[in-house]
Amino acid sequence: MGLIGGGTLLFPFGYQKPAFAQFSPQIERFQLPFRQPPTLKPVRSDATTDYYEITMGKSQVEILPGLLTEIWSYNGVTPGPTIRQRGGRRTEGGRQSVVRFINQLGTDALGEEINSVIHLHGMASLPQYDGHAEDLIPPGYFKDYIYPNDRAATIWYHDHAIDKTARNVYMGLAGMYIVEDQYELDLPLPKGNYDVPLIIQDKFFATDGSLIFDDNNQRSAYGDVILINGVPWPRMEVTNRKYRFRALNASPSRHYQLALSQDEKRLTIGERLIVIGSDGGLLSEPVEVKTPFQSLHVGVAERYDFIIDFSQYPVGTQLYLRNVGFSGSVDSDSRTHTLMRFDIVGEESDDSQIPEQLRPVKPISPSEVVRTRTFRFERNEGLWKINNNIWDQKRIDANPNPGDVEIWEFVNPGSGWVHPVHVHLIDMQILARNGMQPFPYERGWKDVFHVGEFQTLRIIGKFGTRDGDYIRGKFMMHCHNLVHEDHAMMTLFEVGLGGDDPLTKAPAQPIEQMLPL
Ligand code: C2O
Ligand code: CU
Ligand code: CU
Repeated sequence: MGLIGGGTLLFPFGYQKPAFAQFSPQIERFQLPFRQPPTLKPVRSDATTDYYEITMGKSQVEILPGLLTEIWSYNGVTPGPTIRQRGGRRTEGGRQSVVRFINQLGTDALGEEINSVIHLHGMASLPQYDGHAEDLIPPGYFKDYIYPNDRAATIWYHDHAIDKTARNVYMGLAGMYIVEDQYELDLPLPKGNYDVPLIIQDKFFATDGSLIFDDNNQRSAYGDVILINGVPWPRMEVTNRKYRFRALNASPSRHYQLALSQDEKRLTIGERLIVIGSDGGLLSEPVEVKTPFQSLHVGVAERYDFIIDFSQYPVGTQLYLRNVGFSGSVDSDSRTHTLMRFDIVGEESDDSQIPEQLRPVKPISPSEVVRTRTFRFERNEGLWKINNNIWDQKRIDANPNPGDVEIWEFVNPGSGWVHPVHVHLIDMQILARNGMQPFPYERGWKDVFHVGEFQTLRIIGKFGTRDGDYIRGKFMMHCHNLVHEDHAMMTLFEVGLGGDDPLTKAPAQPIEQMLPL
C-alpha cells in the first residue's frame, strides 16, 4: 500500500506539511450536489434487537472532482452509513442494537497495523462496549458492540484508538447514529426526507487528492476544504418548507459558528436557525438564533438539531450556511467562512410544525449535589494535561457512587486554546460559564462542554441513566480536540465498584472465529 493516484507515496502522518502544498487543490464551491450518507439496514432482527454489520477498510473515492482519495471507511464510505434506531423504553417499542465492526484496515503508510476502537458517542453503553481507548480491534479482528438505545438523540460513532484517534477519524472513521422514540415521533416536527444529517468536517488534500493529516506539532489539525456529509461545499436543492437538520461537528479541531445568510460575504438580517435539540436530545423549547447578532456555536463533537423554515423565502432564493467565527474556526483565506448553499427550487405543502414545548428537560437541582470536582485543562511540557496528568489507564481521577449528583468544574486557565471537553456515559447540564448563564441553546442535555479561553464551566450531572438505572465501571473523560486527546488530555472516572472491566470482558476476536450474526 502507499502507492496511490499518480504513484506518489502517501504522505506519512505527523510530518510537517511540505512547502509545495500550502493549499488544497482549489475547486469551485456550491457546485457539487448535496447528499446524505446511506442508511444502514440490519442484517437481521429479532423480537428485541436489530443486528448490523460494518466493515472497516481502505477505499478510493472521488471527493475533489477528478481526483481519487484514499479514505479509511465504514462499509466503503465516509462518513459511514447512518444507523437510525428505534429507542426509548422497551415497553414503548424501544429496541437494542448489536453492531459488529470488522477491521480490514491493514497497515498504514509506515507499515504499522491500524488498530481501531469504536465509541458510540452519546450512548450510555456498558464499559466493555463503550470504546475504551485501549480495547483495540486489531486488523483481522472483529467486535460486536451492544447498544441499549435508551434515549432519543443525534449521536455518532467514531474511532477512539489510543494515540491515533485524530488520524483515524480524519481518515474517515466517523458516522451518524440517530435514536428516535415514540414521544419524538409523535411530535409534528419535519420527518423522513425532511430530517437531514449535516456532518461537518474540514480536510486538507495534496495535489494528487490524497489526504494530508498535519497536526501542527501535536497542537490541532485543520483543513481548508469544508465537507458536508463528505461533499466539499455542497449545494442542496430544497423546497419552500421546513427542514430539520442534525448538525454534527466531526472535525478533529475546528469549531464552527453557524448562521444563515442570503449573501455569501456578509450577514443579511433576520435569518433564523431554530434550534430544537442538543447533544442529548430535544430541548425543552425551541431557541431562535437570528442574524446579525446571534450565531450557533458548534464545538468539536457537539450536535445541534435545528429547523430552517424555507417558506419565508420566494422560490429562487439562495441561502448560505456560514461560519462566522474568529480564530480557530475560520481561516484567513476565507474559504472556511461558508459551509454550503441551499437553493430553494420549488414549492411544496408542509404539515410539519415546531411545537412550543418539545421535551421537558428537568433541571438537576444543585441541592442534591454531594460533591464538586475541579479539572484544569492545560498545556505544559508540550503535552496536554488534565490536573497536570496525562492519560494513564491505571489511574482513576474520580469515583462517583451510582446515583450521585456531582458538580464538575472545567477550568481553562489560559489563552490560545479552547477545549471541547467530553464526558462519556452520562448527559449533564451546564450551570454556568464564568458565572454567567450558558447560551439558551446549551440549556439541554449535553455531553460536550466548550471551555473557551480563560473560562470556567460548572456542569452538573447524575451518575445514572435518566430512567434511574445505574451503569457501573470505568469511563473516559477527555478533550475532544482529537489532537489534544491523543497527546494525552484524557482520563478515567469510575462509577461505583464492581463494574465490568472494559479491557477483558468482551475483547475483539479473530475473524476466523466469526459466526454469522
Ligand atoms: Cu466522541 Cu470519547 O469521544
Ligand atoms: Cu462519548
Ligand atoms: Cu483541548
